[in-house]
Amino acid sequence: MFLERSADSVTVHAPAKLNLFLELLGKRSDGFHELETIMTAINVFDTLRFTATEDSQLSLHCRFAAGTVASAARQDADALLGDLPSGPSNLVYRAVDLVRRTAGIERGAKIELVKRIPSASGLGGASSDAAAALLAADIVWKLGWSRDKLTELAAQLGSDIPFFLHAGLFGSGLALCRGRGEIITPLAIPRRMHFVVVRPPGGLSTADVFRRCTIPSQPLEAHDLSDSLKSRSMMEIGHRMHNRLTEPSRQLSTEIDRLTRCMMRAGAISSQMSGSGSACFALCKDARHARGVAAKLKNQRVGVVFTASNCGVHWN
Ligand code: C5P
Repeated sequence: MFLERSADSVTVHAPAKLNLFLELLGKRSDGFHELETIMTAINVFDTLRFTATEDSQLSLHCRFAAGTVASAARQDADALLGDLPSGPSNLVYRAVDLVRRTAGIERGAKIELVKRIPSASGLGGASSDAAAALLAADIVWKLGWSRDKLTELAAQLGSDIPFFLHAGLFGSGLALCRGRGEIITPLAIPRRMHFVVVRPPGGLSTADVFRRCTIPSQPLEAHDLSDSLKSRSMMEIGHRMHNRLTEPSRQLSTEIDRLTRCMMRAGAISSQMSGSGSACFALCKDARHARGVAAKLKNQRVGVVFTASNCGVHWN
């Protein structure tokens, strides 16, 4: 997450994420699932501009960036991205409203959100936008809240939001997330990783996917992959990638299997779905390899295709 500040506004570039590993450990009494996931932020960004106003109104205006991933996706197939709600049904609005209520202030703000991350994709766009809004409100309204306080608010809003807040505050784009996703352990980024991401023509609802999942009797452990990340071997990393939500997502979309098979045929080291889908990604050797895999996938018209790499400050 990158921030630009001016006198009365902050612009935040909010990244998408990929789940390199996701395992389910159990179902909790609050209905959420206990899980272990390794997520990496990638260099595809929504942009949120937060400006303080004189009145007490919150206004949110959202649009798709022209000629980018999200708008291309919209043209490729109907209803790929869903609506862009501008009121309280948008997580950004809820985040800023939560900040106001928690701080007991009635300050106003104008928020402009430019979308590039396809939604209903398992790429974390809405969660990243909400984390960006929390950070921006804290800065512009000069609240000076601690990391712990912001993380607590983030967790109230959604399971993936603490990860993005963390990526924004500490600059590390890679983390092991536990609990329902909100307990973050930063991981060092061993090197730049290159991916091809494809959003097929049809999104998936996270809640629908989780409703269909089953808890494995012998869950896989994330530390195998975190060890492989240190080794820097893309083959080894690819071998350890895993996503337990693939099975329930397959029940809802035939695109997942088709896509991951196409990615392997196009030369990917490994391929899998991100989060609860429907986007899938191919792990590639380097940037050139990723461009080659992307070109083959574009020819097959599997959906919206784009290359990406992990973002954070620690790669070399
Ligand atoms: O927390 P978030 O709003 O992103 O979650 C969306 C839905 O995904 C939840 O309503 C829940 O059904 C499901 N979920 C879950 N366990 C998690 C995270 C999400 O069951 N750890």
